[in-house]
Amino acid sequence: MTKELEGKTALVTGASRGLGVHMALRLARGGALVAVNYASDEAAANETVRLIEKEGGKAFAVQARLGSEVAARELADKLDVELTARTGGNRLDILVNNIGGGDYGGIRDTDEAMYDQMFDNNVKGPFFLTRALYERLNDFGRVINISSTGARLTDPSIIVYTMAKTAVEAFTRVLALELGKRGITVNSVAPGFTAGPTNDYIVNDPVSAKQVTDITALNRFGQPEEIADVVYFLASSAGRWVTAQHIEASGGFRL
Ligand SMILES: NC(=O)c1ccc[n+]([C@@H]2O[C@H](COP(=O)([O-])OP(=O)(O)OC[C@H]3O[C@@H](n4cnc5c(N)ncnc54)[C@H](OP(=O)(O)O)[C@@H]3O)[C@@H](O)[C@H]2O)c1
Repeated sequence: MTKELEGKTALVTGASRGLGVHMALRLARGGALVAVNYASDEAAANETVRLIEKEGGKAFAVQARLGSEVAARELADKLDVELTARTGGNRLDILVNNIGGGDYGGIRDTDEAMYDQMFDNNVKGPFFLTRALYERLNDFGRVINISSTGARLTDPSIIVYTMAKTAVEAFTRVLALELGKRGITVNSVAPGFTAGPTNDYIVNDPVSAKQVTDITALNRFGQPEEIADVVYFLASSAGRWVTAQHIEASGGFRL
């Protein structure tokens, strides 16, 4: 049976660890050839590729520490080479701007370096990567930006994260109008607290874990596969009429 994303190409940024691994796995399971981006941990990126290949999928690792225009252009150049070798062209169907996060803090704890890092990871990275890949994106393709429930919260302890992820959502909405002319959908997916390396220290501490689950409607942590499923929905034909949307996958965190 032909898989839904057979013949499609995808790039998932930050797919050597955390949620990105599962997004890459899910898209590959759907038949896409997946570029697994990482910043420095080549072995971990190769492990993502190995997991995909073990399931019969197709993937390759591609290094770039995103957050600047130069890095975005370098990644686009590397993709040209890798995609052309595998598909005969440099076209991309699905771009998942997943990198993000940074050092959290309130206004009094946040110095300029922390502020810049937060905006570089969450805003500048996705913006300039999308710009670098603009012409390479196929008509009827997908751009999926990973935001956070943090974009909706009013929590002074994550002020810059909220500012940055709110910018991601503005980026999503405006880009959707522009790329809509080419049939490309642009959406953001906002995870809540999800099990994985970023949150192990909370998940594994019963007191902290309970604080999170007590204010989550579904009363548990999300699983990375549950975020990947939403990304897959948007990438698949089932998501073809959804654009400019912000979809929270948080189990109902802090309603
Ligand atoms: N985890 C959650 O519960 C949660 C909740 C809400 C929102 N989110 C959002 O979901 C996204 C993924 O979160 P996560 O927790 O899975 O993140 P993570 O574990 O910190 O992601 C790490 C991955 O990103 C790569 N990476 C980091 N900085 C990079 C850069 N500048 N350029 C390229 N790759 C880079 C790492 O590569 P190396 O291995 O090479 O370092 C690794 O593959 C983020 O946008 C985050 O804000 C996550």
